[in-house]
Amino acid sequence: MANPYTALLAPGRIGKLELRNRIVMAPMGSSFGGHDGKVTERLLAYYEARAKGGAGLLTTGVCAIAFPAGTSEPHQLGISGDEFIPGLAQLVERAHRHGAKMAIQLVHHGKVAARDIAEGRELWVPSVPPPGKAGFVATLSHEEMATFVSNLGSTPPRYRVMDAADIAQMTAWFVAAAARAKRAGFDGIELHAAHNYIFAGFLSPHYNQRTDAWGGPLENRARLLLDTIRAVKAEVGADFPVWLRLDGRELHTEHGITLEDAVATARLAEQAGVDAVHVSAYASIDTGGEFSDAPLPQQPGAYIPFAAAVRKAISVPVIVAGRVEPEAGAQGIAAGDFDFVAMARKLLADPELPNKLAAGRPQDVRPCVYCYVCVSQIFLNKSVKCAVNALTGHEHDTRIEPAATPRRILVIGGGPAGMEAARVAAERGHRVTLVERSNRLGGTLFFAGLAYPENGRLLDYLVAQMQHPNIEVKLDTTATREWVTALAPDRIIVATGARRAAPAIPGADQRHVWSGDELRRLLTGDRAGEIAHAKLSLAERALFKAGGMLGVVDSRQALQRMSKLWMPLGKRVVIIGGGLVGLELAEFLLAREREVTVLEASDRAGRELSVVRRWRVLDGVREHGKLELQATVDAIGKQAVDWHDAKGVAHATPADSVVLAVGAEPDNRLAQSLADLGIPLDEIGDGASLGYIEGAMHRGNRAGRMA
Ligand SMILES: Cc1cc2nc3c(=O)[nH]c(=O)nc-3n(C[C@H](O)[C@H](O)[C@H](O)COP(=O)(O)O)c2cc1C
Repeated sequence: MANPYTALLAPGRIGKLELRNRIVMAPMGSSFGGHDGKVTERLLAYYEARAKGGAGLLTTGVCAIAFPAGTSEPHQLGISGDEFIPGLAQLVERAHRHGAKMAIQLVHHGKVAARDIAEGRELWVPSVPPPGKAGFVATLSHEEMATFVSNLGSTPPRYRVMDAADIAQMTAWFVAAAARAKRAGFDGIELHAAHNYIFAGFLSPHYNQRTDAWGGPLENRARLLLDTIRAVKAEVGADFPVWLRLDGRELHTEHGITLEDAVATARLAEQAGVDAVHVSAYASIDTGGEFSDAPLPQQPGAYIPFAAAVRKAISVPVIVAGRVEPEAGAQGIAAGDFDFVAMARKLLADPELPNKLAAGRPQDVRPCVYCYVCVSQIFLNKSVKCAVNALTGHEHDTRIEPAATPRRILVIGGGPAGMEAARVAAERGHRVTLVERSNRLGGTLFFAGLAYPENGRLLDYLVAQMQHPNIEVKLDTTATREWVTALAPDRIIVATGARRAAPAIPGADQRHVWSGDELRRLLTGDRAGEIAHAKLSLAERALFKAGGMLGVVDSRQALQRMSKLWMPLGKRVVIIGGGLVGLELAEFLLAREREVTVLEASDRAGRELSVVRRWRVLDGVREHGKLELQATVDAIGKQAVDWHDAKGVAHATPADSVVLAVGAEPDNRLAQSLADLGIPLDEIGDGASLGYIEGAMHRGNRAGRMA
């Protein structure tokens, strides 16, 4: 059968630049550079891994033309002097070693140049920006808040409304940076004209209030950008590829950039000499949920319509960004909607994605689960990490090496930690037995995949990896001391889940009160019979059994569909606990037309979610359901939950069903019972400490490497 990704894998050109395929590593600030703006070995190894993984073109993250002025991240790259060239040249060389081309993204952060605020410099702006909103701050924990502001210094921002001389200076900085980029050996230059930075600030009618030659109609708002394009092209030469990144729209912004503006700007930019246009999008942020509309969309292919509109208007290639799945990428290229696909998060999750697609192994691509851990790090001024790929950002110091002596490894627990440990150990040459008590792999990830389908893709990937010839999976098997002794492994990895004890709330033992564990067991078939017997009516049990007989509980997608129609929960649901589990469950139930109230004891909800994902979930739960903070539950009645708020005022929230999403705690009983067998033992699952997907994947990876 023909490879469905052929169009994505076909060679392409941007101007004179020939690329081996249409996959572009999108620009991502990683904060892997030095505080001096220089390239580090960590950064080199990180890009080299993506070059090796097969992408046609890599782009650096934001690189500051006036470093340290105009920068935003604490460890952002600079290109403001010749002293930056040797490091950048090394970066290019590391990409070229593996057949990838390397471009640089040039930026001045304008009004959001946090380092200017911290170091007492003025922020360069087209006009003083209208006051922003910052509802998101209320969702940050105290620690996150401290990290967030640590980069801002203590003085309030001072604005410098750029005059004609400043505007000329800005262009001169870009031109000098472009010349250095060419000397460093880069294959192309991306001018960052999106995401609220200097060019976008001028392009946006919301932010640009000027009345002179740089304000008002689009030709004026685009003047700085167009003059800079012409000057840069004149400097680097007609044959040297230069393109721009543009917002297809500025969402959630009054008088923001429209698609018509974007199309017109792209046309003007083509006339000014760009060799391609890269289409992204931006959103103004208040509560924070907007951020996952743009620039990092939750919705797949969110900016494809923008790219297609731009593509119709110009004749140079169009690059599209924004959660473009490989299938949609290949189809869009074949249909002529765009020419290249920029991937960011997917290549953090799996640098080998292009090679795996080319080899016809899409099932082996480790999927991004859109948990937003990566970019949340940047928000908090920390280096990028990836929840599902423990090696991202550690390519320089961590490798999966063949084992010196292949051994027999027993992994107990078929959740994400256990499967990741098994995968890595098997890849190293060990023989692995993976034992799971229930009748399917996945553990809590199966349940997490129901609540947030993105997680389910990770489950599919991990299950596919268990096909490795070195791995033997044993389902429906309890690892008793006798069983383990008979197997006689050289090493044991215990990756069992957490314990969820019912909290001591009066009424918690009623039939309509479910612990997260009971729901999970029912829906995932982990000793589901017992649960069904205790909790379901006869009619419900019959329905449940029918589902089982039809085989639908064996398929995650089918289960998703079925749970839309039937679930053992009534119309009005109260969830006790507003952590990750409670909130994702609330999101899941709201999508199934339940009336949901979440009661959270502390003053912050969703701490375990990355900040960006938390914003979205909180927005959704607040919009469609109710979230009560500092709510102390007093008792669960037959038809209502009694609780009181921080002021001591008593409330009774009607409830047909109650879910207890509190009280998960590490459970090391199994590990303890095996400790005296004399076999080296590693404890890594939620049984050891609660770590959710990131913790499970990282600990599993480490255990596999150490085995
Ligand atoms: C950690 C991280 C850092 C990013 N930094 C930049 C950046 O420096 N410049 C930029 O234009 N976009 C940046 N982006 C946005 C990406 O280039 C991309 O447009 C966005 O993530 C959507 O693509 P995706 O769905 O493939 O992740 C960043 C994204 C991530 C995840």
